[in-house]
Amino acid sequence: MELKDLTSAYTLANGIAIPAVGYGTFRTPATVARQAVKTAIEVGYRHIDTAAVYENEEAVGQGIKDSGIDRDSIFLTSKLWNTERGYDKTIAAFEASLKRLQTTYLDLYLIHWPANQKQFGDQAAALNAETWRALEDLYKQRKVKAIGLSNFMPHHVAELLKTAKIRPQVDQIEVHPGWTHQEEIKKLQAMGILVEAWAPLGGQGATVMENETIKQIATAHGKTPAQVVLRWEIQQEVLPLPKSVHEHRMRENADVFDFTLSPAEMGKIAALPNMGGQCADPDEVDY
Ligand SMILES: NC(=O)c1ccc[n+]([C@@H]2O[C@H](COP(=O)([O-])OP(=O)(O)OC[C@H]3O[C@@H](n4cnc5c(N)ncnc54)[C@H](OP(=O)(O)O)[C@@H]3O)[C@@H](O)[C@H]2O)c1
Repeated sequence: MELKDLTSAYTLANGIAIPAVGYGTFRTPATVARQAVKTAIEVGYRHIDTAAVYENEEAVGQGIKDSGIDRDSIFLTSKLWNTERGYDKTIAAFEASLKRLQTTYLDLYLIHWPANQKQFGDQAAALNAETWRALEDLYKQRKVKAIGLSNFMPHHVAELLKTAKIRPQVDQIEVHPGWTHQEEIKKLQAMGILVEAWAPLGGQGATVMENETIKQIATAHGKTPAQVVLRWEIQQEVLPLPKSVHEHRMRENADVFDFTLSPAEMGKIAALPNMGGQCADPDEVDY
């Protein structure tokens, strides 16, 4: 499918359109998020990604209101934090997010991290199943247009599918050069799941954008390293969620639809070594 601009969308397995580049808000403090989200919408972003744990949902909701754009023209995602797993707590956490976001529905709600065996032993799979059952009910009640996962590797998804009645439509995982998850992306896509890239530019502490190979490819196309990295993700049909609080970078990160990386360039970027970032293994995290 040809993507032309920030309003170009993929179609999720349940028929819902999801704009193909989102706007991230992790580490955007509430004091900044209101104006940043409004600016992002003015720049043209129509897909906003937040989470309860970012502690900026209220400001994100206010920024959407300030933009003057109809709520229906925005694709809004939030996520269930790890302390709220389980059926009842999930329903309550969802309602609290809606309230903070000052909206009556979400476009996408994600389980932020799978409960892992390291923390929950044999109970991990049952806890994920119960949490998912709550998302299914929210979906059936039309309080959310699509439901999905975050940081679930294919083996977590396979476990969940043993009990799921509704298949997850999205999985948001860490993807950037040096932390490519290429096999996992292919497996998730083969399951009919749209993959979103968090930390698409490498996130905090990464040196992805200073990499010489990426810089050379950028120069060859008359683009910036950030644009090349986002394009590399888009060409894998992975949906990036770049975060910036600066308008010029919001514009830069949106200007990724007028060039194409060759298969050789795609391969060179995929082969780059780890350049830092969060590089989190969902089976090893303690949160
Ligand atoms: N599901 C999860 O577990 C999870 C985890 C992490 C993130 N996320 C989501 O994914 C989004 C993106 O991840 P992220 O925020 O960690 O990292 P990111 O988008 O890869 O990188 C953001 C960093 O890059 C800088 N930046 C942005 N555009 C740039 C450009 N064109 N040139 C140079 N630097 C640029 C930003 O600084 P400035 O803001 O100062 O411009 C910020 O420091 C998050 O905001 C969040 O919505 C989800």
